[in-house]
Amino acid sequence: MYKLIRSLLFRLPAELSHDIALQAMSVGERVGLLGILAAKTKKYALPKTVMGIDFPHVVGLAAGLDKNADYADALQALGFGWLELGTVTPRPQPGNPKPRMFRLANERAIINRLGFNNKGIDHLLSRLESRHRKGIVGVNIGKNADTPISDANEDYLIGLRKSYSVADYIAINISSPNTPGLRSLQYGEELDSLLSALVSERTKLEKAHSRFVPLAVKLAPDMSEDELKLCCSKLLAHEIEGVIATNTTFDRERVQGSNHATETGGLSGAPLTEKACATLRQIKRLVGDNMAIIGVGGIMTASDAVARLEAGADLVQLYSGFIYEGPALIESALKEISATHSSSDKNSQRETNNG
Ligand SMILES: Cc1cc2nc3c(=O)[nH]c(=O)nc-3n(C[C@H](O)[C@H](O)[C@H](O)COP(=O)(O)O)c2cc1C
Repeated sequence: MYKLIRSLLFRLPAELSHDIALQAMSVGERVGLLGILAAKTKKYALPKTVMGIDFPHVVGLAAGLDKNADYADALQALGFGWLELGTVTPRPQPGNPKPRMFRLANERAIINRLGFNNKGIDHLLSRLESRHRKGIVGVNIGKNADTPISDANEDYLIGLRKSYSVADYIAINISSPNTPGLRSLQYGEELDSLLSALVSERTKLEKAHSRFVPLAVKLAPDMSEDELKLCCSKLLAHEIEGVIATNTTFDRERVQGSNHATETGGLSGAPLTEKACATLRQIKRLVGDNMAIIGVGGIMTASDAVARLEAGADLVQLYSGFIYEGPALIESALKEISATHSSSDKNSQRETNNG
């Protein structure tokens, strides 16, 4: 069914088909028709507590698909374990001029330079309040394009304060390639200053709300080993609870010569799989069990999801894989993860028995 829908949608420009699909899903959810597409995830008991949050299972939706929480009920109904919504900025902004999203269908990839087009954090919060399906939600926050990078901390603090009472965790997006200067926040003093500001504000919010909300920092896959080492040491020093690895890449090596490959923006999907997984593996080596890791980037198949968990991820997220494979990918990933789990449980049982 999804293949048929996809073949129709893929005839339209990428952003238009994205909007139509989300609106159709929303209508489908309201009239009770979404069950045709929804992944049957309840039969896979894979609950996991990560960053102190009890996730019903380990496959979630990555940020950027629903930037305004306009489609949270429909996406929840499809069977995701949780939703990461946003990136949202303090003020609404239109993003970059269109066209700004391109499908590289042969490569099962997407290039986007949307530039945080969103309706602003107040809109997202009101949409979250009016949801009727209450699942776990991460709110992904960023800065407005016209806020100078020197004032970026204040935008993130607005996002943190405003979303604190509704978010289960807050994702700090400092790795989008489409907001000039944003990625510089991953380095040096800018990173230190941002993390200090966020952690000290969170201490105040925790007291005021009698509630602890974990922070997860989203990183790019384009850092050198040394840069990643420095970045992770700062995340550890500031006792950040989680890292999300990774955002889209600048790298075009794997799509050279393809249609749209030279478009400016971040590349996601199958050409990112290896790079995102290698980055995650490196992060795991650097942070060990001191931080939760959410794995994202090029998870296009059930085996990709299993491989990401084996590389050290506690949870995984889908974006491009969901566009190309539909909600069936959630179910097939859970099926393979639970099969891998039960066979590794059996193996460890056997080892115990033999030992
Ligand atoms: C069209 C599009 C828009 C995105 N917007 C955001 C965003 O607003 N915030 C964010 O943190 N990541 C955003 N991402 C990145 C995804 O969350 C994800 O990290 C990246 O696409 C890699 O995963 P994938 O290969 O499964 O797509 C976006 C990705 C795409 C394709």
